[in-house]
Amino acid sequence: MTPPRKSIHGSWSSRLAFVLAATGSAVGLGNIWKFPYIAGEHGGGAFVLVYLACIALIGIPIMMAEVMLGRRGRQSPINTMRALAAEANANHAWRWVGWAGVAAGFLILSYYSVIAGWALAYVFRSMAGAFSGATAEGVGSIFIQLTEDPERLLAWHTIFMVMTMIVVARGVKSGLEQAVRFLVPSLFVLLIMLDGYAMASGAFDEGLRFLFTPDFSKIDANGVLIAMGHAFFTLSLGMGAIMVYGSYLPERASIARTSITIALLDTLVALLAGMAIFPLVFSNGLEPGVGPGLIFQTLPIAFGHMTGGVVFGTLFFVLLVFAAWTSAISLIEPAVAWLVENKGVTRVHASVYAGAATWGVGLLTILSFNRWADFHPLSFISIFEKSTIFDLLDYLTANIMLPLGGLAIAIFSAWVMRREDTVQELDMGDGPAYRLWHFLVRYVTPVAVIIVFLNVTGLVDF
Ligand code: PHE
Ligand code: NA
Repeated sequence: MTPPRKSIHGSWSSRLAFVLAATGSAVGLGNIWKFPYIAGEHGGGAFVLVYLACIALIGIPIMMAEVMLGRRGRQSPINTMRALAAEANANHAWRWVGWAGVAAGFLILSYYSVIAGWALAYVFRSMAGAFSGATAEGVGSIFIQLTEDPERLLAWHTIFMVMTMIVVARGVKSGLEQAVRFLVPSLFVLLIMLDGYAMASGAFDEGLRFLFTPDFSKIDANGVLIAMGHAFFTLSLGMGAIMVYGSYLPERASIARTSITIALLDTLVALLAGMAIFPLVFSNGLEPGVGPGLIFQTLPIAFGHMTGGVVFGTLFFVLLVFAAWTSAISLIEPAVAWLVENKGVTRVHASVYAGAATWGVGLLTILSFNRWADFHPLSFISIFEKSTIFDLLDYLTANIMLPLGGLAIAIFSAWVMRREDTVQELDMGDGPAYRLWHFLVRYVTPVAVIIVFLNVTGLVDF
């Protein structure tokens, strides 16, 4: 038995603190903003089914693997991978998994912050009563006015990045626990209210049918990759966010039970959001496939017509900002932890450097919605024909970098690490539960990721 390492960054005050932080990382824009619009773009039911299957068969086992690696390594993902590779007498190139994760987190945050900025702007639109009595067109033009204006987007993006860096500079542990404790239950209450409104608004059945009746002729190889990529994205997997949170995990705790709980909560939030949005799409004659503006063009209609809509609308966007905030800090934490470990800088400096760089890259996303909206750099590849720089950044990170990171984590955990070390670290014995995990991580994840990739490139066709 290897004696356990200690983290120089301190640890969570309890297992519950870890669960809350990891839930805060998972539940975010991915559930409420991204899931509905990509489900809408890829035809609904079949997409949702593939996504749910990926959560169960790939997401939960990879989450367990990441928590396990983090808790054993007790350092930033880069140094954790280095230490665990040395322990297993494996090639030290494994540390590149950590580096790729840092890069992915940085690129994701660059656009995540811009979208979180939209949510921030909507807090104030809602508070000012801008949605009262609004029609679909009215709400649509509010959205366009915002995204057409690079200066406004820049201002909100800047505010959100500063908010994120303040928390990261102070250390991710203070405050996060309280924030998530109130966030998740309140989010559930508001989403259930919105579902209630959707139910009364006429097209609830049509919305549910769209989301839950699979029609496989509506999904192609690329749609399957996007569903799989989203399973990684929504659970914060494949880039070290959950690994770095796992490295602050104090005592022995059931990694399996924790991972399943987080995945269930995350999935529930996404499905509740979808069930609120699609009925509104159909009852207002909107298109499910409008893209990243979907929630901003639908939910305000509901707030504009329900009693107390100003209060509930404001509260909803406040919660969305909180959800994005607790995810954003986990996107940058692997980089900050590494800067502190290897460059000997303080957390404050590390946050400023990492935050400033991310903020700068965010300009690419801002311009993608206005000045560069017609710039499609990879238009010669058919699936990217209409993709802006923002679309490409999202595709590169969520659908390529995270699944590849997950593939590497799977291979490392189930082929490179000694089996007895993973048995010891997961702490659930060597019975059927462990064996199921080991089988999924050893075979199912690698095979699934590779087949889905090959299928998109057209090298093989299933
Ligand atoms: N899981 C977050 C969401 O759904 C996004 C995220 C991805 C956070 C990767 C951390 C790492 O919004
Ligand atoms: Na999520």
